[in-house]
Amino acid sequence: MSGTETYSRSMFSLTNHEIFVLTAHHDGRDNGQVATWIMPATLVPERPRIAAILSPRNYTHELIAGDGRFILHMLAADQHELLPRFGLHSGRDRDKFDGLTIRRSATGLPIIEGCCGWAECRILTSLDAGDRIVYIADIVEQELRPGCIPLRKQEAFAAQPEDVRILLEEKHRVDGERDRAFMKTFDE
Ligand SMILES: Cc1cc2nc3c(=O)[nH]c(=O)nc-3n(C[C@H](O)[C@H](O)[C@H](O)COP(=O)(O)O)c2cc1C
Repeated sequence: MSGTETYSRSMFSLTNHEIFVLTAHHDGRDNGQVATWIMPATLVPERPRIAAILSPRNYTHELIAGDGRFILHMLAADQHELLPRFGLHSGRDRDKFDGLTIRRSATGLPIIEGCCGWAECRILTSLDAGDRIVYIADIVEQELRPGCIPLRKQEAFAAQPEDVRILLEEKHRVDGERDRAFMKTFDE
């Protein structure tokens, strides 16, 4: 999502978020999705927590809601090919892990190799806003690759072929249309 249309008159047009991939496993099924609305959610070092804002329409969300856990990966600058793999299509239509090297966490969740870091998260609480659900999750295990440079949205989009960039921007527009109806649930 380039954000050029969505945020053109907003201070958020000035942001350049890190690209994350959330992976999940439930009922023998794996999936993952791109996410940028991710942030740390506590100052208490021995109780690390994150906040994630997710669409309940995504297939990944179905698995996360079923299992209560997910792995959060911060992509490295050279992993821009993972943006369309995990952010353009739904895992309902294809196996997003096909041809990708993964390993498993102790609890069986898929971990993508080569990232700046990953964290296994267990959902603590959530807030339903209609179009999105805000999750607060405890980090139960994590690994960091020191010195790794994260992939950010502007650079990730610039690295895509023109046709892929157009498809990503069109999906962003269509998802926004879809979400408008769900947001109305909270209007009255
Ligand atoms: C740059 C970018 C950022 C995104 N950020 C989020 C996000 O923060 N939360 C979210 O729910 N979806 C986000 N998405 C959308 C999902 O990654 C996308 O809809 C994905 O295809 C869902 O796949 P799934 O149905 O297999 O779960 C983002 C997509 C892109 C390209």
